[in-house]
Amino acid sequence: MSKEIVCLKNVYVYFNKLPVLENINLSIKENDFLAIIGPNGGGKTTLLKVILGLIKPDKGEVKIFGKNPKEGRKLIGYLPQYTIFDPGFPASVFDVVVMGRYKGMFKGYSKKDKEEALDALKTMGMLEFKDRQIGKLSGGQLQRVFIARAIARKPKLLLLDEPTASIDPEMQKSFYELLSKLKEKMAICLVTHDIGVVSVYVEEIACLNRRLFYHGPKEAGLKKLEDVYQCPIELIAHGVPHRVLRKHK
Ligand SMILES: Nc1ncnc2c1ncn2[C@@H]1O[C@H](COP(=O)(O)OP(=O)(O)OP(=O)(O)O)[C@@H](O)[C@H]1O
Ligand SMILES: [Mg+2]
Repeated sequence: MSKEIVCLKNVYVYFNKLPVLENINLSIKENDFLAIIGPNGGGKTTLLKVILGLIKPDKGEVKIFGKNPKEGRKLIGYLPQYTIFDPGFPASVFDVVVMGRYKGMFKGYSKKDKEEALDALKTMGMLEFKDRQIGKLSGGQLQRVFIARAIARKPKLLLLDEPTASIDPEMQKSFYELLSKLKEKMAICLVTHDIGVVSVYVEEIACLNRRLFYHGPKEAGLKKLEDVYQCPIELIAHGVPHRVLRKHK
């Protein structure tokens, strides 16, 4: 049986006394490929931050690789939803990716660190841009570089918060195919609004709207989507969907 790497039990998070996550039970195992979907403000980013140990739950238990989240974090690669950076910053694409191997202040990068950074760039199809100044990339290319940084540390779990937000539909397809390959080496949990596309590639879908509505095989999961979004959803699970959301009432 595959090992459980994320285990959340009865997790609650409150902001200003209002519940943002309520009674969350989540289990992610080695080589799982899970998508978390749900409306804006549903708590998706908060949930990822709980897994990373950046937010401490008010109630409940979090175990990452059997340890507390701060220790488990070393084995996680993370792509935040928003990355704030100065486009004029004098760093190359390579400099940004090798930062994914950061071990602490005054600890330089070894030959292996540099090799792994180049390998991650190659995986993301960005090797030819390695010497380009980071501000001189398109939004989609930049996103690939940030994902390369997340995988450069060879994580056992990859958390991606809306990775396809600035990727065009053609690139999205190759992006998900790439994730399907990465999945052989690590578990992947991604947050997305691309319900239609994601349903073709991922194995499990969890719907989060304060509560985690579902966690299991996607066919059954899709039926529950309407409850979460509270509006009708039309999905064609094979190939690209023609239409995802029907008009709200
Ligand atoms: N640091 C914070 N302090 C107070 N409230 C917060 C904080 N972070 C998030 N919230 C609130 O918690 C709720 C969940 O936010 P979260 O960012 O997790 O949602 P999300 O599902 O990622 O949404 P989106 O799809 O828009 O990215 C929102 O109502 C948000 O306003
Ligand atoms: Mg978010």
